[in-house]
Amino acid sequence: LVCEFTPRAAPASMRRALCSAASRRAVLGAPDASLVGAVRGGTGDALPPAPDVQIWPEIISEAEESALVAEAERWLARRAFEPGHFDGVIRNYREQQQPLGRVREPSRALLQKLSAAAVPGAELLPIHVLELAADGVIGRHVDHVEYSGGTIAGLSLVSSAVMTLHHEGTDAALDLTLPPRSLYALSGAARYEWGHSLVPAGRRIAMLFRDRAET
Ligand code: OGA
Ligand code: MN
Repeated sequence: LVCEFTPRAAPASMRRALCSAASRRAVLGAPDASLVGAVRGGTGDALPPAPDVQIWPEIISEAEESALVAEAERWLARRAFEPGHFDGVIRNYREQQQPLGRVREPSRALLQKLSAAAVPGAELLPIHVLELAADGVIGRHVDHVEYSGGTIAGLSLVSSAVMTLHHEGTDAALDLTLPPRSLYALSGAARYEWGHSLVPAGRRIAMLFRDRAET
């Protein structure tokens, strides 16, 4: 692992953690903790510790957002909205996987920068573009562990949303406010020990960045 941000003396795992925090901060700036709610509820005697979540508001400009929305609409053009099943996790949506190499400039460079910073030191899967209709929802789930690795990051476009994290063991919950043009990252316990659900305030497009699961 090459990291320009951390000293070489530390053990590799510590260097990796320090490196990802430092490279995130260098590229993305400081996350805004006020968008992360307090842990509430749950069945246990003690609340679980707050999981590892960051939200960076206004990480792109309105002009960049417009260009990304135009790209997303191009990728999704041939996809129909899917109602989803009554017991399914997600409703009233359409989605597409888009390899970074097929994204047009200048959006490609922007997505390359944001995804590499949010999901550092990893081989990235193609971008997952997910459009929810105004009445779409994502029900509670943990992303498949065979499919993707330890970090899930998402860029929110068009509308804000509330994402709720649900602790698998205790059902304790935590709300995240995701304004348009913000980026979030869930790692560690936030990715593996908490599920997530999402309700958008209107039509919303997300670009999701994930690392490949280690095999
Ligand atoms: C998913 C998901 C969150 C988002 O696609 O698995 O949880 O921000 N998406 O749209
Ligand atoms: Mn998910």
